[in-house]
Amino acid sequence: MKHSTKVIIANWKSHKTDSEIKHWLTNFEATVPSLTASSLIVAIAPPMSSLATVSAWVAQQDSPHVTLAIQDLSPYPAGSYTGAVCTRNIEGMGVKYAIVGHSERRAHFHETNQEVALKVVQALDDGITPIVCVSAETLIPQVKAIDSSLRSKCLFAFEPIDHIGTGIADDLTHILEQRSIIEPLVKDLNFLYGGSVDAHSDTALLSAEQIDGFLVGTASLDSADFSDLLTAIIQPQGTQS
Ligand code: PGA
Repeated sequence: MKHSTKVIIANWKSHKTDSEIKHWLTNFEATVPSLTASSLIVAIAPPMSSLATVSAWVAQQDSPHVTLAIQDLSPYPAGSYTGAVCTRNIEGMGVKYAIVGHSERRAHFHETNQEVALKVVQALDDGITPIVCVSAETLIPQVKAIDSSLRSKCLFAFEPIDHIGTGIADDLTHILEQRSIIEPLVKDLNFLYGGSVDAHSDTALLSAEQIDGFLVGTASLDSADFSDLLTAIIQPQGTQS
């Protein structure tokens, strides 16, 4: 399944209170109509504690262009796993995407390629699309840890650790090199980029056809910055007058 739409994920990590999130959503409502004419899907990934708040807001928007993502998922089904959030816990909330294997989870929570592969299975079992984060180091072992029949159902997000939160995005040539490394391993590869993407990123990067979306941290925290980024992505695609 290859789609021409781009998925833009707002990854808020462990930032924001619930009331700050409500404020962000209210401000962002002005941007939602401009998405309707675009081929973008915006997926908001709030902290777990505000999943219900964003879920209710997304339902209210009633737009195929705004949806909900979760920042992590249990590698296990429902059961005795204190602290873990599994697919059954979020049933009915409209979660469409699950970020798994973010480099911050690998670094601070010692997540392994095998655990990430289990999360992929849990997500897909429940109709949630996994966004599998990889760096240059984990790229090949992570893809190989996922059953080959499941790989085309994932979105792979290349996130070079040196470029996350630094304000400087990687260059397109290097990003596409990484894409070509895993292309032979994944049928109909869906390939995202994450790492300091903002409204001022290179137009060639924002409009690259081979990149199916962006994972956005810092530039998603302020709704105006995020709206500016979406405008910058839409305009090079020539879908906005
Ligand atoms: P950044 O974060 O946009 O702040 O670099 C990206 C990410 O960690 O997903």
